Amino acid sequence: MADNSVFHRPSYAQTLVRQLLQPGPLDQGLRSGVFLSGIRRIGKTTFIRQDFFPALLEHGALAVYVDLWTDRSRSPMALMLEAVRAAALELQQPTSTLVQKLRRVKGLNFGAAGISLGVQLDSIGTAGGATLADVFVELVRKAQGDVVLVIDEVQQAMASQDGQDMLFALKAARDNVNTATDLPGKLLIVGTGSHKSLVTDMATRRSQAFAGAHTASFEPLGKDYVDWLLKRVTAAGLAVPSLEAAFSGFRDMGSRPEELTKAVRQFQDEVAAGRAADADTAFATICATLATAAAELDIQAIEDAGELAVLAFSRIAAGQVRGLYAAETLASFSASLGREVSANDMTPAIDKLVAANLVVRKGHGSFEIADPFVKQVWVRLVQMRQTLGRESSP
Ligand SMILES: Nc1ncnc2c1ncn2[C@@H]1O[C@H](COP(=O)(O)OP(=O)(O)OP(=O)(O)O)[C@@H](O)[C@H]1O
Ligand SMILES: [Mg+2]
Repeated sequence: MADNSVFHRPSYAQTLVRQLLQPGPLDQGLRSGVFLSGIRRIGKTTFIRQDFFPALLEHGALAVYVDLWTDRSRSPMALMLEAVRAAALELQQPTSTLVQKLRRVKGLNFGAAGISLGVQLDSIGTAGGATLADVFVELVRKAQGDVVLVIDEVQQAMASQDGQDMLFALKAARDNVNTATDLPGKLLIVGTGSHKSLVTDMATRRSQAFAGAHTASFEPLGKDYVDWLLKRVTAAGLAVPSLEAAFSGFRDMGSRPEELTKAVRQFQDEVAAGRAADADTAFATICATLATAAAELDIQAIEDAGELAVLAFSRIAAGQVRGLYAAETLASFSASLGREVSANDMTPAIDKLVAANLVVRKGHGSFEIADPFVKQVWVRLVQMRQTLGRESSP
């Protein structure tokens, strides 16, 4: 369905779809799954639904979507089964847009009736009933092509035994479909998530169902998006800053569309009040203020992790990715806190930062700030405190 309040990204969608459906020699890992991660509120779900799905369908692939955050009171397996049932039911409706589209794209004659699966849908997942593997085999067979399962907020599956069982059931389904010699397509699994280190873990830990899967960062919206938004605002007769100022403000706010909209709204007030003689500077100030406000919750979380965690976070934010356990780092932390800090104290402090999604473990003993935008705000805050500290000291 066309939705003109959405900026479309057809070429990004095409690139991903091609990598997935027609992998080159270096894209083979994608067959084990693809995990896209990116910070909160940057348009991951919108892209998946508005651009990625239509592009998949254009290539004749059937997309099945499940969002593990839609209802956190329900188990991942229950949500997955519901999504699979919904997709199967849609295939059974001869008039559904999905069936019509598949018919058109593939030039297939699915018959006047829809496509009915040879499995009892109600029985999926029950004892003695069809397994997820059975259903995916049927979907690939009946849709006569690739099936792409997209799991939004995939890291949620790691939080419970049920979720982990679901991942292993999916792995079994994937291996089942992809090693069969008599099926017309593959089962491809795409996960997206906001929690970068958990998502990365899913693909790198050998014990996980998706070990070996490909991970990539979700590409944030770019200058073309900002340009599109400014044109819409201008068309509505409202004031806008220059594209350069708007894009730079957008990036300062973590490339979040909602923040940009908020900034442009506040900009109208500044203009109306005659406070925006220098439009771009006024806009940059609005963005910086909004960025700080948005990061306040994260700043609180860093401070709640304790004084040692705060020191560690500052070091990582300042660019020290390794050596947090090194003797000189520990000595410097001991001096700052006025008490002995040992390597044993560091582990729980860093674990807290990782658990709160503030810091990402990149490898053994190597760390990175999860959200570049929080990092920027933190660095600014630390500098401000140092200046104030110097000014207030005698
Ligand atoms: N391409 C786009 N065009 C216009 N608005 C967009 C676009 N992408 C995202 N947005 C807006 O940005 C906000 C966040 O989008 P979305 O929910 O897709 O992000 P997300 O990364 O999935 O967020 P979350 O971390 O909460 O899952 C929404 O208000 C959405 O309307
Ligand atoms: Mg989302």
